[in-house]
Amino acid sequence: MIKIDNLTYRYQADGPTALDEISLSFNKGDWVSVIGHNGSGKSTLVKILMGILEGYTGNITVDGEALTQDNIQDFRERFAIVFQNPDNQFVGATVEDDVAFGLENQGLPREVMIERTEKALSAVNMLAYRRHAPARLSGGQKQRVAIAGALAMEPDVLILDEATSMLDPEGRNDILAILDEIHKTRTTTLIYITHDLSEIEKSDYAVIMKDGRVINEGSIEHIFSDTDILIESRLVLPYQMQISRAFLDGRYVTHDELVARL
Ligand SMILES: Nc1ncnc2c1ncn2[C@@H]1O[C@H](COP(=O)(O)OP(=O)(O)OP(=O)(O)O)[C@@H](O)[C@H]1O
Ligand SMILES: [Mg+2]
Repeated sequence: MIKIDNLTYRYQADGPTALDEISLSFNKGDWVSVIGHNGSGKSTLVKILMGILEGYTGNITVDGEALTQDNIQDFRERFAIVFQNPDNQFVGATVEDDVAFGLENQGLPREVMIERTEKALSAVNMLAYRRHAPARLSGGQKQRVAIAGALAMEPDVLILDEATSMLDPEGRNDILAILDEIHKTRTTTLIYITHDLSEIEKSDYAVIMKDGRVINEGSIEHIFSDTDILIESRLVLPYQMQISRAFLDGRYVTHDELVARL
């Protein structure tokens, strides 16, 4: 669905490359995780996909059509993104206004807006806060509302850029469970950015980034078949992989499989 060819980006013309000849393909309906340490280029990549950053070299196609300055706006309507900092993404005076804002822009009928807003707020467990001011919520609650806003848009591509980093473990698991439900429908392509390898178990495909380059990509089994490269990339192995590496054969195991083997 999305094809990226030789994408290179510099923030300053004579500055270092934030992205260095990245080539990637994302299949429709897949859940793709993009993993890398701080400054590896993850946010830059999605900002280019969202049309926020211009002046890159290389090609991006969506459904076979090349992304250009002329058509980027049409594509943007099909993409929704949640950023890592929830404070910069509110426009509504109340939680429900905020979630409905994107829908209003699409000119949807009022009943559809109400239905989608309620559904999205329930999904993130924030319906009880619908009349609250976003500014008065905790960081994790704000992030849930931002995620609800993206879910309500029912986008073709949903991008979460470290959107769960503010959440406690339970809140993070809630969001991962919501993504798992969306993923089952195979209608929304999920791009999940994280530096936490323990969050990628459910994804179809993972991309490991380091210093603006893709250093490994493939299925989860493939990614964990070479744990050295992950450690060299300053990533922390998930608990079950640390156990597998230290005490078993080092091969990929899910949490449940590890429990069974032990
Ligand atoms: N506005 C900017 N101006 C100049 N350089 C920038 C800017 N934003 C990011 N960079 C640089 O581009 C590189 C990639 O940054 P990017 O934000 O894409 O990394 P990231 O993988 O999202 O990191 P993090 O995990 O910290 O969010 C870094 O070297 C960073 O210093
Ligand atoms: Mg980032």
